[in-house]
Amino acid sequence: MTSLSKKNIVLGVTGGIAAYKAVELASKLKKMGAAVHVIMTKGATSFVTERLFQEITGQAVVSDMWAKTEFHVEHIALAKLADLMIIAPATANILAKVSAGIADDMLTTTILATKAPIFYVPAMNTNMYENPVTQNNLDQLRKYGAHIIEPDSGYLACGVEGKGRFPTTDRIIAEISSFLKKGQTLTGRKILVTAGGTREALDPVRFLGNRSTGRMGYAIAAEAARRGADVYLVSGISELPCPDNVRRVFVESALQMREAVLREFDDADVVIKAAAVADYRPKMVAQQKIKKQEGELCLTLVRNPDILKELGERKKQQILMGFAAETENVENYAQDKMHRKNLDFIVANDVSAKDAGFGTDSNRIILFERTGGRTKYPLMEKEALAKCILDKIEMALEKRGNV
Ligand code: CTP
Repeated sequence: MTSLSKKNIVLGVTGGIAAYKAVELASKLKKMGAAVHVIMTKGATSFVTERLFQEITGQAVVSDMWAKTEFHVEHIALAKLADLMIIAPATANILAKVSAGIADDMLTTTILATKAPIFYVPAMNTNMYENPVTQNNLDQLRKYGAHIIEPDSGYLACGVEGKGRFPTTDRIIAEISSFLKKGQTLTGRKILVTAGGTREALDPVRFLGNRSTGRMGYAIAAEAARRGADVYLVSGISELPCPDNVRRVFVESALQMREAVLREFDDADVVIKAAAVADYRPKMVAQQKIKKQEGELCLTLVRNPDILKELGERKKQQILMGFAAETENVENYAQDKMHRKNLDFIVANDVSAKDAGFGTDSNRIILFERTGGRTKYPLMEKEALAKCILDKIEMALEKRGNV
């Protein structure tokens, strides 16, 4: 396994003389296990052919945004698919366009649409490279979070000596690999996450449920997988797509969730229980649809097992995190739950707030640690909170001397 194995790399090739060196880069990336998707600008096609990249990578190559290919590749698809983008060579022209947000072809559109990290490999004549306009554009791109792989100095195709040479493909690959490895802070860890709401059947067509969408737990699972963990997601009801590199099982009721969680619990390093589990279920599940009658209908509910409490009693090496959705007395209730259920962390959120909690994109949480820590976060997107939560988990793993 290399850090590039199974990674989707989108390689943008622009119209510079060094375009032919991108062929070698594509070939090496593929040999290291990456799936390489090439996008060429029109200029690039004057130097190398689409066909060549297609043969080398075994993937469709796109240059015309409007061409219908048999592969149905379109800019948003590649932008989404990319784990990383490399623009090599990057001409002064493409740097100027993307730093200004111009999106007038397949490559610039994909760059604007992607959330993946982007590496630029500028290669051009020394004067063009050193021109303050180009340098400003590079600074601007750095500010937007892009990575710039500095060109080499030496003899350039245009006949002058100076900075602007396309670096060796080995240096490009080394920089990308070290970047990809850096993020893999949870490699070798098994993380079990529960998410979504449970449903407790009343009859074949009705159930008792809750408003959980699963977004918080799914965001945690996605981030943990991005950091290299083996992630098991036990999902209650949720319409969200399965995050990349996550093993998901669907369950419906609290009893099914308990069974699925216990199956994966023993060798887990971390368990994060973000699911909204029903505390009660109907005592009787009618075999046939319940028909309406005169007067009131009384439902008798029985207690569901408290899965988290049971995990707290069984836990050995596992770091256990629970969630507390409260509508009042948030801090006290949450801390009490942490101790009662023998947790290492509890994430408390006030679900009575309109902008946070169930069914919203954002959340406002307080994270309590068993060891006494308390961190209050401002209103944040659930994806950003997932990062903060996993940073805390990583710290706890480190403290245990396990990392
Ligand atoms: N939980 C669980 N099993 C249950 C109920 C809850 O594992 N049967 C977990 C949830 O996944 C969450 C945490 O317990 O991580 C807190 O759930 P919550 O319903 O807010 O708390 P309760 O323990 O049910 O306490 P209370 O009803 O008093 O609020």
